[in-house]
Amino acid sequence: MDQAEGLRRLQRPATKVITVASGKGGVGKTNVVANLAVRLGMAGRRVLVFDADLGLGNIDILLGLAPRYNISHVLSGEKTLEQVLVQGPHGIWVLPASSGVAHMAALDTQSQSRLIDAVSGLDIQLDYLLVDCAAGISGEVLTFSRAAQHLVVVLSNEPASVADAYALIKVLSKQYGLKRFHLLPNMVRDAREGRALFAKICGVADRYLDVSLDLVGAIPLDAALRAAVRAQRAVVESAPQSPASVAFAALSARVQGWPLPEGPGGQIEFFMAQWLQAEQSAASA
Ligand SMILES: Nc1ncnc2c1ncn2[C@@H]1O[C@H](COP(=O)(O)OP(=O)(O)OP(=O)(O)O)[C@@H](O)[C@H]1O
Ligand SMILES: [Mg+2]
Repeated sequence: MDQAEGLRRLQRPATKVITVASGKGGVGKTNVVANLAVRLGMAGRRVLVFDADLGLGNIDILLGLAPRYNISHVLSGEKTLEQVLVQGPHGIWVLPASSGVAHMAALDTQSQSRLIDAVSGLDIQLDYLLVDCAAGISGEVLTFSRAAQHLVVVLSNEPASVADAYALIKVLSKQYGLKRFHLLPNMVRDAREGRALFAKICGVADRYLDVSLDLVGAIPLDAALRAAVRAQRAVVESAPQSPASVAFAALSARVQGWPLPEGPGGQIEFFMAQWLQAEQSAASA
């Protein structure tokens, strides 16, 4: 890195990196990421959404975007990151996934360093990087969860969802020493149901794990959200007064109060480097 590059990085604003995961599939991760991103965009924040559901990504579909390229084109060197990013509502940027990149481990080190360089050299200033994970607790999901500054675990009021959220927290705390988790109940009747769900997880975690859990809100089950999904729009935009949108607005305000990462340069390079490092060691194992 030459001096000019070093200075440029120092001047970059710090970026909050937030990963959204759940364990169980279909509990609303992608909707949370999309609506939080658009809500932050409405507040004038600069947001990049990374669709980390690399095999089955669909945040672009949810937002009605039609990207021509995706992350695989950056990795192959065919396109630059700027050429692949698409702009969504309120200026948010989306890095689309592809169905062709199920495993980074299959990529050579040249492609991996290409991605690092592309992200480091990105000319867009970002306040937030939001990472939408795949379902499950695969190595990739664990890596994205560990590499972020904040992890939001989405869960619904179903035994399997509660069990999987707990399993995710357990693995991350026991195997990787993660201590802080933000919990977000989704599809609840009201705030009280959200609090009850949170209390259920806390009851078990307090007994068996050394973690600190924090309830970041609760998103109600909302027909307007379903309609927005069908219309391929963010509900915060299509029905801003709906109960889910009001809850997303509260979530966005809360997230904006979270501390910035320490040190200059933000956390994006760190996030990417962690991911690729983990993939490399998985490939050589
Ligand atoms: N708050 C809500 N109110 C009503 N319906 C909801 C809500 N949240 C999610 N849904 C419904 O659940 C579906 C699945 O949501 P979403 O795709 O965001 O889940 P996911 O966790 O990302 O799934 P996957 O694990 O497959 O990635 C949505 O298409 C929508 O129909
Ligand atoms: Mg999803």
